[in-house]
Amino acid sequence: MNIRRLAASELPPMELLLDADPSREMVDSYLRKGETFVAEVDNQIIGVYVLMEKQEDSTEIMNIAVANEKQGQGIGRKLIQHAIDYTRNNGFAKLQIGTGNSSIGQLALYQKCGFRIVGIDFDFFLRNYPEPIIENGISCRDMIRMEIIL
Ligand code: ACO
Ligand code: ACO
Repeated sequence: MNIRRLAASELPPMELLLDADPSREMVDSYLRKGETFVAEVDNQIIGVYVLMEKQEDSTEIMNIAVANEKQGQGIGRKLIQHAIDYTRNNGFAKLQIGTGNSSIGQLALYQKCGFRIVGIDFDFFLRNYPEPIIENGISCRDMIRMEIIL
């Protein structure tokens, strides 16, 4: 598997990106401002993440997704490790990520990768998404903000 930056001339893997974030408007907005990296096997894109500079000292993974049939094989972990290395090598001190209160597996993965919870953006999903989101039988309302100090 190879992880590389998506060239400006290439179309982003929209289906994957929308799996992580159902808002096309939000996805388009951070695609414009951030850098997109893809994981490839045999010229086939099987994973993606979008990294955006947040403050002078920090970046944030705005979106991360792995193709359904490839999930649970360690690819998400490798994408996060790539984001950690890229952020550190570019002189930033912190890497951030945010996910819904109902995203049990994602919260598990991010903590296994070293992220710690640093805050809660209450009602973020109710304010920003028109359709209700339900995962694991839980209503998604709050954004759990997480961070790694590099
Ligand atoms: N309890 C404990 N651990 C769990 C649980 C759980 N309920 N669910 C998952 N995990 C752990 C797994 O055990 C594994 O840890 P391990 O490596 O110690 O075994 C880890 O989480 C999953 O690791 P990977 O296999 O590397 O992850 P994967 O390749 O499946 O990618 C991802 C994870 C990106 C979240 C993928 O499932 C996906 O694309 N989901 C749909 C889109 C999505 O929800 N994206 C994130 C939205 S938030 C955002 O974009 C900022
Ligand atoms: N992802 C999604 N849902 C989950 C997960 C998961 N990883 N794990 C559990 N759940 C859900 C189940 O699906 C179920 O929901 P459902 O009713 O919609 O199916 C629910 O959580 C569990 O419900 P119960 O069966 O009613 O719970 P149980 O009788 O097992 O009691 C308890 C829960 C008290 C936590 C028990 O497991 C226990 O004694 N654990 C050991 C002691 C402990 O950890 N206590 C809590 C410490 S914190 C404190 O004390 C304040």
